[in-house]
Amino acid sequence: MDGQSNGRFVTKEYMTKNVIAVLDFGSQYSHLIVRRIWELGVYAKLLPPETPASALQEYAGVILSGGPQNLSKPGALKADPRIYTLGLPILGVCYGLQLIAHQLGGKVRAGKKREYGPVHTSLATSSALFKNLSRSELTWMSHGDQVVKAPRGFKVIGTSEACGVAAMEHRKHQVYGIQFHPEVRHTKHGMKILENFLKIAKVRRNWSLGRDWINATVAAIRAKVGKSRALLALSGGVDSTVAAYLTHRAIGRNLSCIYVDTGLMRKGETEQIRKTFSKLKNLDFKVVDAEREFLKALKGVTEPEQKRKIVGKLFIRLFEREAKKLGDAAFLVQGTLYTDAITSGVSVGGKAAMIKSHHNVGGLPRNLKFKLIEPLRDLYKDEVRRIGKRLGVPEEILFRQPFPGPGLAVRIIGEVTKGKLAMLCAADAIFREELAASGWARRVQQYFAVLPDIRSVGVQGDARTYGHPIVLRAVTTSDFMTADFARIPLAMLARISARITNEVAGINRVAYDITSKPPGTVEWE
Ligand code: XMP
Repeated sequence: MDGQSNGRFVTKEYMTKNVIAVLDFGSQYSHLIVRRIWELGVYAKLLPPETPASALQEYAGVILSGGPQNLSKPGALKADPRIYTLGLPILGVCYGLQLIAHQLGGKVRAGKKREYGPVHTSLATSSALFKNLSRSELTWMSHGDQVVKAPRGFKVIGTSEACGVAAMEHRKHQVYGIQFHPEVRHTKHGMKILENFLKIAKVRRNWSLGRDWINATVAAIRAKVGKSRALLALSGGVDSTVAAYLTHRAIGRNLSCIYVDTGLMRKGETEQIRKTFSKLKNLDFKVVDAEREFLKALKGVTEPEQKRKIVGKLFIRLFEREAKKLGDAAFLVQGTLYTDAITSGVSVGGKAAMIKSHHNVGGLPRNLKFKLIEPLRDLYKDEVRRIGKRLGVPEEILFRQPFPGPGLAVRIIGEVTKGKLAMLCAADAIFREELAASGWARRVQQYFAVLPDIRSVGVQGDARTYGHPIVLRAVTTSDFMTADFARIPLAMLARISARITNEVAGINRVAYDITSKPPGTVEWE
């Protein structure tokens, strides 16, 4: 069995009858099933729905996920029918239940009533699947079709008002199906049901996202890359850094990390990356100093979208240039997270308005012929931080606030020049320092300084000045889609204002942005 499938990692020693396969029929909760099994201390892996039975033999059990399709319509996704002859415990969830019924000779029809939301389901607690549950449980349903006749040999073990077969089992063959979703929290004892299934599958519950995950992932990267080489574009953020640490642990000197210093980074950032990565032995780490090239490309450009595009394109060009110098790398490592993977390409019917052309190194590079390695694809941000901590990634990187791909170019309104960059960096550093010292840095999700393209008259040291204002922005948000300006105490703002105007030459005024998103965006460009 290969170490990687579908971008997800697992080693051979874990495979042998100790991993649960989740066949993904397209439900928005398929991945959540995997996560819940992880939470129960067992490794689970999401696999394509048509995975052949022969590839499932090493697993301890199979879960068939829900999905948006209707079995009454032609072309509905099906599982390899031979999976029912493997002798493995099988659990069908929602569409999975209907599929089992359909494939084993039962009947599925469009229900008279759609069930959506919380539903009380009566359960036969004599079933091993419902052990330690009550006879009536709050469950969460979302379906139109339903099983109207269980296949031969199956016993109905659950019913709801609208659904005659809300759960069924074939005790001898250990095949189970439930119409409701145990993986969502609204099914009150859903975790108990999944736990019962793990007991039926006789798996050891000793897997953890920490050490086990790291070992498995490192082994899988090693197996995949072999004696070849891999390349990684470091951005300085948590995702690419953790991906670099993991890959470095796996293949050491066969990993080349390229960090492009655009000159558009915040104060101290490039030095920190250099310091962090120079500590890793046997790593081919290169800082490409490209400030001059970026400033040249941005010269005279004031339009925000144009700036973004110029930075994005130049980044890719430089990366390609460096990659070519390295020659034979066959793999490209990217720090794509689960959330990146599900959101990429999804755009509300393709009609969502384009607000800004976001770019980050995650989108690199389209026309280089690399095979992709995405070791963090199953994880959420907080888990990446946990893994990073175990790997020894410094806290400053693990808790670094988000930073836009085009860097400070979108925080300098108007033309980007070296002088403006110096002013912005200095003011931004003071703001960050003060927020960190007061503890506010942990209470707001993003905070930075912006340099607008205007000047105003001031008086400093008894003399008239005609200088730049600086705008401070700090926001609280849970998802960056909407945000509120942070209520930083006025006394603190006063102190920061005094420091900036005293310490940063050229700045004679400080403003605090009190706009939420919407109507503003987080960044100014
Ligand atoms: P906006 O300004 O769109 O920002 O409200 C929302 C979040 O996205 C970050 N941002 C970017 N991140 N590449 C990125 O990776 C980009 O081009 C980019 N532009 C904005 C922004 O900092 C905020 O966290």
